[in-house]
Amino acid sequence: MQLMTLAQEDDFDGWRDAARRLALARVPAQEVAWRVGAAAGDLFASAALETNALPAPGGPAFSVPRAFVSLAESVICHNDPERFSLLYTLLLRVLEQPRSVDDAADPLVRRLEVMAKNVRRDIHKMHAFVRFREVEGAYAPRFVAWFEPEHHIVRAAAPFFARRFASMHWSILTPEVSVHWDGERLTESPGATRADAPDGDPIEETWKTYYASIFNPARLKVGAMVKEMPRKYWRNMPETALVGELIAGAQAREAQMVDRSRDEIGGNADVAWAGIRAEAMGCTRCPLYRDGTQTVFGEGPLDALLMFVGEQPGDQEDLAGRPFIGPAGQLFDRALGDAGIDRSAAYVTNAVKHFKFERRGKRRIHSKPDGGEIDACRWWLEQERGLLRPPLTVALGATAARSLFGKVVTISSMRGQPHQARDGGETWVTVHPSFLLRVRDNKEEEYARFVEDLARIGERLKELV
Ligand code: URA
Repeated sequence: MQLMTLAQEDDFDGWRDAARRLALARVPAQEVAWRVGAAAGDLFASAALETNALPAPGGPAFSVPRAFVSLAESVICHNDPERFSLLYTLLLRVLEQPRSVDDAADPLVRRLEVMAKNVRRDIHKMHAFVRFREVEGAYAPRFVAWFEPEHHIVRAAAPFFARRFASMHWSILTPEVSVHWDGERLTESPGATRADAPDGDPIEETWKTYYASIFNPARLKVGAMVKEMPRKYWRNMPETALVGELIAGAQAREAQMVDRSRDEIGGNADVAWAGIRAEAMGCTRCPLYRDGTQTVFGEGPLDALLMFVGEQPGDQEDLAGRPFIGPAGQLFDRALGDAGIDRSAAYVTNAVKHFKFERRGKRRIHSKPDGGEIDACRWWLEQERGLLRPPLTVALGATAARSLFGKVVTISSMRGQPHQARDGGETWVTVHPSFLLRVRDNKEEEYARFVEDLARIGERLKELV
């Protein structure tokens, strides 16, 4: 038995180095035991063979498909103790047959894909549900949050907070490891307990005010209350303290409904989203509501890692009340499929939420929203973005880009690289699918370029989460 020791639970570099040495020495997976840290009285200690029979660390290399590396980077953060061994088993297969990592029917690949997905989801939950409390420091205010992830994701999730709260001094305490940002550097210290984190502060008040303002039990649909946020996160989120109070104050008719649903409310992000959407249905912020059939709000999972922003609903969307379901939406779906992106995992919305059109006989012809309409409707996009906080956003076309960046931009100058939206989120820009329907010259090349943009964004997403 060969014993390989990794420095920490999420030690990807250590695993990669060990796996490379084992694979070069052709050690079968069942002859390797993996452990993290050097625990005293370790069960494996006596079983360990000399590791100096293996090629030296940093010795000869071999290459594996990028897809395997991304999979392994995520799976390493899973809490399943078998992960190191499962990945090594797949590595040996991939060395024989590089395409085996793409074989979605293979039970091992499937199991690892599910693990990677759980890890990505846990990272996203941390991004979305961490709430900082302010504490007075000797030099500057500091912000401290407590979080309990399911997997070993804290190091992987921390750079997001460094980017988003770059000018703050903050700490995130978790049972396994704590991370700190001093405005310049991320550092670590050992895990903490919940009691180490402070309770209550002005940041809570901001959240509570916001939440109370958008919570309207009369407009809630029980079926729309989602179960995404496990109850264990409730304690850390100040706005959840209001749920009981707000529900108690509702009128009897609503209270009855809410009483029934109280146990079913799995996540206040969903409650908030349902409230915002309901508000948007009655929007009169610009004159477009007069002619449109209805507000077409965004849709998709609230823990989506990717948000697509289009221009405005078209004729079919206006009638159905759902974004991107007409001809542009169908082309968009095809391109997403060709780029390997799952639309159902993304949140899809528009910069302007009412259909703007001119009547020609019986037909309603799309007409471009103007700056005033885009600016008025940004309110709703900001509400959606505030709730989802997507790590990655894609502006489809100039209207979406104008809304997200707060200024007029040209697609050609911004395409193919990341930018920062006015709210700080990483944002990519590409053409609108309806451009591809309209364009006459080089139609196929333009379509291929669009797919290429989407595929690059898909790759970027894997790096970010
Ligand atoms: N075009 C858009 O920008 N959004 C839609 O929902 C449909 C077409």
